[in-house]
Formats: sequence, C-alpha cells, structure tokens
Amino acid sequence: MARRRQLYEGKAKILFEGPEPGTIVQYFKDDATAFNAQKKGTITGKGVLNNRISEYLMTRLAEIGIPTHFIRRLNMREQLVREVEIIPLEVVVRNVAAGSLSTRLGIQEGTRLPRSIIEYYYKNDGLQDPMVSEEHITAFGWASTQDIDEIVQMTLRVNDFLSGLLLGVGIVLVDFKLEFGRIWENDEMRLVLADEISPDNCRLWDAKTGEKMDKDRFRRDLGKVEEAYQEVARRLGILPEA
Ligand code: C5P
Repeated sequence: MARRRQLYEGKAKILFEGPEPGTIVQYFKDDATAFNAQKKGTITGKGVLNNRISEYLMTRLAEIGIPTHFIRRLNMREQLVREVEIIPLEVVVRNVAAGSLSTRLGIQEGTRLPRSIIEYYYKNDGLQDPMVSEEHITAFGWASTQDIDEIVQMTLRVNDFLSGLLLGVGIVLVDFKLEFGRIWENDEMRLVLADEISPDNCRLWDAKTGEKMDKDRFRRDLGKVEEAYQEVARRLGILPEA
C-alpha cells in the first residue's frame, strides 16, 4: 500500500491521512515519554499492545452506547478512526489517590477517594498541560457548558463501566485520562471519545497485590514495563496464553 500522508506526530502515536475522507490512521509507536517529555524511552512491543487494548476497550464502550472515534483495527500497529476536531482538554478521572493528586494535595497514594473526581487540563505541551477549571474552559471557548455537561456524563459512564470490567479481571482502575472530539453530521455536532485508552493513560493496579501494571513502571523505573502491558492484555483475553 502506498505510504499515506503524515498529518501529525505525537509522543506515542503518528496520525496519517485515512483511505476515505473523514478518516485517519492512528499508528502506535513504542516510544514512551514522561514528565512532559523530559524522560524518553522505548518500550518494546508497547505500540502493538496499546493498539489491541485500546481497540478492545473502545469497542466495549461503543457497545454500551458511548460514541467513539474508533472504526476498526487495520493491523498490528494501526487503527482506522474518524477524523475529529480535538477539544484541547485532557479529562482526568480519579478513583484512588495517586500521581499528581497525591503530590499536590498531600494525600497518600492508594487512598480511596470519597467519590470519583474529574479534573481538566489544557492540552498544551508548551505550557505543560496546566490544570484548568470549567470557568477557564467556557471563558476561552474551548468547550461550552453544554459540551462540559455531556463530557462529564460520558466520562462518569466510562469510569463506571471500565472500573467494573477491569475489576472483573483483578485490576483496579486508579485513574485515567480521556480526550474528546467533535464530529459534524448533517449540520449537527456530536461529541465522541477520541485518542486511546491504554496503560499509557490509565493507572492500573493489581487488585490483590497492588502491583502497578501501567506507565508508572516506566515513569518510576520499576522495570518489567512490557510484561505489565502484556499482562493487562492477557487478562482482558486479547492475547493468546503464553
Ligand atoms: O500525572 P497525573 O496523576 O495527573 O495523571 C493522572 C492520569 O492521567 C494518569 O492515569 C496518567 O497516566 C494520565 N495522564 C495522561 N496524559 C497526561 C497526563 C496524565 O494520560 N498528559
């Protein structure tokens, strides 16, 4: 197949023009970055695993009525998705204290939160994705109040569904990041879940041992990074038994 035109290269993915108008090919790289790209590395096989894991989770979410950009997986490292206008927000959901929440508020990692907490960050590498409030989002026109209501509704459904699905395979969904995009159909705007859902943007802990099964293994140099991603895929039933 002729090489498609590259539209964008991010830290972990490359986007190519899709075969039909309104489609995009997402290519999953093995590159990993952390701490706003101050730490860089490669996790062998990560791209292949994230492509599969994200396909699986986006498909399950579509089945319960969450609109997503995912169309189909094309091969080991590529998936076809709908072209969307990305809303410049990272929507983080937290169920258990960890990461920047623990650091910022001094809450011990592993503390179950009284309820799920949603946070918004402005997607801007140059500014290192600063945390913003609904006030900033509406004042600067990144999303309307109605968009935010819809995003919160979808995000809470995604959290409920994924928390249950993962707990069923012995994994606690500690926190995760979602991105949303706009699609226009017959002059109507629809919000859809975009980007990816994988151990790169979720914190996943083994329910019995508390062992980390996500990108924190890379961020904190804990070793066995690829093995952890593989174990997530295996438990979800999308890898043949070793
Ligand atoms: O670092 P922090 O604790 O704020 O991250 C919360 C969640 O959001 C983690 O699961 C992390 O993997 C995800 N995240 C992300 N991309 C970012 C920042 C955070 O996927 N740029």
